[in-house]
Amino acid sequence: MTTFADRVEQVSISGIRKVFEAAGEDAINLGIGQPDFPTPAHARRGAIEAIENGLTDAYTSNKGTLSLREAIAAKYDRDYDVAIDPGDVIATSGGSEALHLVLQAHVDPGEEVIFPDPGFVSYDALTRIADGTPKPVPLRDDLTLDPATVEDAITDETAVFVVNSPANPTGAVQSEADMREFARIADEHDVLCLTDEVYEHIVFEGEHRSPFEFAETDNVVVISACSKTYSMTGWRLGWVVASNRRIERMLRVHQYAQACASAPAQYAAEAALTGPQEPVQEMVDAFERRRNVVLDGLEDAGLEVPKPNGAFYVMPKVPEGWCEAVLDRDVIVVPGDAFGANGEGYARLSYATGTEELKDALAIIDDATQAVR
Ligand SMILES: Cc1ncc(COP(=O)(O)O)c(C=O)c1O
Repeated sequence: MTTFADRVEQVSISGIRKVFEAAGEDAINLGIGQPDFPTPAHARRGAIEAIENGLTDAYTSNKGTLSLREAIAAKYDRDYDVAIDPGDVIATSGGSEALHLVLQAHVDPGEEVIFPDPGFVSYDALTRIADGTPKPVPLRDDLTLDPATVEDAITDETAVFVVNSPANPTGAVQSEADMREFARIADEHDVLCLTDEVYEHIVFEGEHRSPFEFAETDNVVVISACSKTYSMTGWRLGWVVASNRRIERMLRVHQYAQACASAPAQYAAEAALTGPQEPVQEMVDAFERRRNVVLDGLEDAGLEVPKPNGAFYVMPKVPEGWCEAVLDRDVIVVPGDAFGANGEGYARLSYATGTEELKDALAIIDDATQAVR
């Protein structure tokens, strides 16, 4: 009789998906984890031209086309003034595959992976799929991750700690001082810092900084993607940047599990990264305006809301029964505990939805909040 691997039996379907399945057809969806904007025209054109010119019919190099990896390296030079060798980049099937490669290549059975709780659902699941031990750690009151909490959680068994800024599900942005601390911790404790930067460009105040800029060793690995920055979630194109010895290990997983990222997506990504960046700024401006509308609406309803400075999520504290009351009124929100035990008593709302719909949803939320008070 066949059986299933324990590591797979430990992973269940995301709580987010369960909420979607339970919702009515006409519900207003504030559960969405992707921008509601089109992929920029020049990115689409990059793929179309590559297809028409016959460039996408064959495998690319396992790491991805050299021209895409050069575009990714140029991006790090432009954004953070850090020099990256295009040989130290792997183009992946979205940020998701990049996370998987990092954990597969660095976690031995039973080793611990520290990550924020509440945090992005994949950290726990991918740790289990790597046969590692999840070590969720709580956040500060403002929903950022305190480097001291991470440092205290490190044991001899720790392989990796995850930093995610701007963060899903909280929208919280870590300060430069925190990022410097994360780099120091990775250096001093000789543990790997996996910095998940898929929302790096969606920041409303100040700017995103990366622990990668500050580390003195090669103990920081960055993953990012076109998914959120260029509204390209369907294209499935991300990457991992690390030192050569780490990239060569991750390539062993990528080569056998994936061969290479989809060629049309690679050409679209190259065009997105090298073309005009105005569409990104327009999208970020729209998210900031909506963030303000949502913050005002939730505060007017009497909820306590840590102010999010990035991504497109907000995570208010909510009274018991609130999520059910809101869902009953056909507004989809995700209960905070879908993102970890410490998410209980919170809810995640995404504002990747038009302003008029957001206003309608906020009126319903006000009504639901009064009903459960
Ligand atoms: C924090 C975080 N990291 C990684 C990902 C994965 O992104 P991708 O769609 O590029 O696989 C997501 C997607 O929601 C995310 O929120």
